Amino acid sequence: MKKALTLLTLLLAFATQAQLNELRSPALEELPDSLHKRDLIELSEIFNTDKQPSFHNFIELYNRHLTPLQDSAHRLLEIGIFNGASHKMWKCYFDSAEVYGIDIKQKPWVEKLGIHTYLADQANREHLQTFIDSSGGMFDVIIDDGGHYMDHQQVSLGFLFQHLNEGGLYIIEDVHTSIPAYYKGFGQDSTLSNTTLKVFVDYLMDESIESVYMTEAEMTYLETWIEYIEIYKRKNSMHSTAVVIRKKKKR
Ligand SMILES: C[S@@+](CC[C@H](N)C(=O)[O-])C[C@H]1O[C@@H](n2cnc3c(N)ncnc32)[C@H](O)[C@@H]1O
Repeated sequence: MKKALTLLTLLLAFATQAQLNELRSPALEELPDSLHKRDLIELSEIFNTDKQPSFHNFIELYNRHLTPLQDSAHRLLEIGIFNGASHKMWKCYFDSAEVYGIDIKQKPWVEKLGIHTYLADQANREHLQTFIDSSGGMFDVIIDDGGHYMDHQQVSLGFLFQHLNEGGLYIIEDVHTSIPAYYKGFGQDSTLSNTTLKVFVDYLMDESIESVYMTEAEMTYLETWIEYIEIYKRKNSMHSTAVVIRKKKKR
């Protein structure tokens, strides 16, 4: 009896792993209805995104900021698609929202699931303008989980913040790439004067935005429209750091 039970448990475990593999596979044909509106933390684990608790755990931050928007967010953009894990998660969580993704590589298996994917370099304003013209912009949430270089993060923020709806959220993941002691080779200059983290730490001092990668108009726009920023840092082996920026509702 005990042996039979052990065998049954093993079979169930295999079935679950097989189902997970199917959900994570590029061959997935559609997102099952059973996953719609499921708990965000659970979805992060099901799809195996690096936002999940056992990795960067940015999902804890998303759970706090995005759960109140579950029914009201209609348009979400995430820069950086990779294997599509987080885009699938957003598509399930925000049941009726249109989910967009930008990447420098084609992601046809993600597009097939009803997620709008665009080929664009996040550090190239012409690419971003083409994306906005074709998608219509007007996002409720924008997440930057792309290349994580200093120019990537700051060009995208300067350009795309204007295409975030009033009251919307702009989240930059992996801001720990501003710290060369932890992460080398992300375009930080030797004095660290150009880092994304510095832009926000300086903002705490005098509420001004200074970035060598943004135009004057973009910096003024940010200063005018930022309602708050939140710097999120976890004490873990990856030094996971993210920044949340909320756009004002009305002047
Ligand atoms: C960390 S992965 C994204 C992971 C995904 N968001 C998730 O959580 O499952 C980073 C992605 O950014 C893309 N990327 C790198 N540089 C980029 C750039 N300059 N513009 C747009 N995407 C870029 C890479 O091709 C890669 O697919």
